[in-house]
Amino acid sequence: MIRSVFRGSGSALPAKVVSNAELSKTVDTSDEWIVERTGIRQRYIAGEDETTSTLAIGAARAALDDAGIDASEIDLIVLATATPDNTFPATATKVQAALGCTGGMAFDVQAVCSGFLYALATADSLLKSGMAKRALVIGAETFSRILDWEDRGTCVLFGDGAGALVIEAEEGEEANRGVIASRLHADGDQHDLLYVDGGPSTTQTVGHLRMKGREVFRHAVVNLSSVLREVIEDAGIAAADIDWVVPHQANARILDATARKLGLPAEKVIVTVDRHANTSAASVPLAFDTARKDGRIKDGDLVMFEAMGGGFTWGASLMRL
Ligand code: ACO
Repeated sequence: MIRSVFRGSGSALPAKVVSNAELSKTVDTSDEWIVERTGIRQRYIAGEDETTSTLAIGAARAALDDAGIDASEIDLIVLATATPDNTFPATATKVQAALGCTGGMAFDVQAVCSGFLYALATADSLLKSGMAKRALVIGAETFSRILDWEDRGTCVLFGDGAGALVIEAEEGEEANRGVIASRLHADGDQHDLLYVDGGPSTTQTVGHLRMKGREVFRHAVVNLSSVLREVIEDAGIAAADIDWVVPHQANARILDATARKLGLPAEKVIVTVDRHANTSAASVPLAFDTARKDGRIKDGDLVMFEAMGGGFTWGASLMRL
């Protein structure tokens, strides 16, 4: 049996922090409204010299250092992003060039906020099939570049950043480590609730994020609790066996409502939305790395990742460190 086992993680954030109070100088909003509705207190915003690839490269280097693995040993880079540096080539190839590991595969996946779950499941499948041995799975975004800074209903919710995991194929009898079970879903009928109104083949512009927040919220809680139940069942565990849930950091109220539906105590849910806001595909690996580095998530822990985003797309993955 081949398992994709965890080797290391890393993350990167832009230099600039923007608080709710600062945002309220340019947008008709307030710290009180944002904190009460979302739990967000600040976000990191990329400067002119920071892009999705520079953040991804920072996170990838930190993950390789943490894993004690040289870039030359990586033969697969899967990068989840909805804000690539360019329409093509894939931002993953820029990361590959910067790391100097030009031997294997490198490509982007696009599933917006669930992108990291899609990237992890894809990398896991390629490792299990024997097509690659060591993978960098990255989520990296600069959502600040696709926000309508005059739309207070969306621009206060997002931030920029990147997170990365190194996973490695390991052969053996032991079935208890690495990626244990994953489920992915999509429902293209829900396009109009969350989308970007531009693109190369339609408007030839990058476009801006558009969202019906209230409806997204409702779908998020239903879809996330259902996919979490599926993965718990596939893995043959009880919800109480999970040491940590690392959810997509969209909104503190979505995190609370989903945990409540599954009967998971709030202390087991990693929350970084207060500091990072919603960093889309970067949010899960960024939150995971933050909680590993501050000592909460430890070797041997059973960790559940979950996310939902535009499309809609959603998914969950269970991993033993
Ligand atoms: N500051 C002050 N007032 C605001 C702001 C703001 N930033 N944004 C909206 N308002 C106002 C609205 O104009 C509206 O005013 P009105 O009653 O006078 O018309 C009022 O606040 C209520 O607006 P709603 O949109 O109904 O507010 P709601 O309670 O639904 O909260 C929010 C909005 C925070 C977006 C919420 O719906 C939400 O979190 N939805 C989930 C969306 C999400 O997280 N998406 C991320 C991507 S998908 C994902 O990651 C899962």
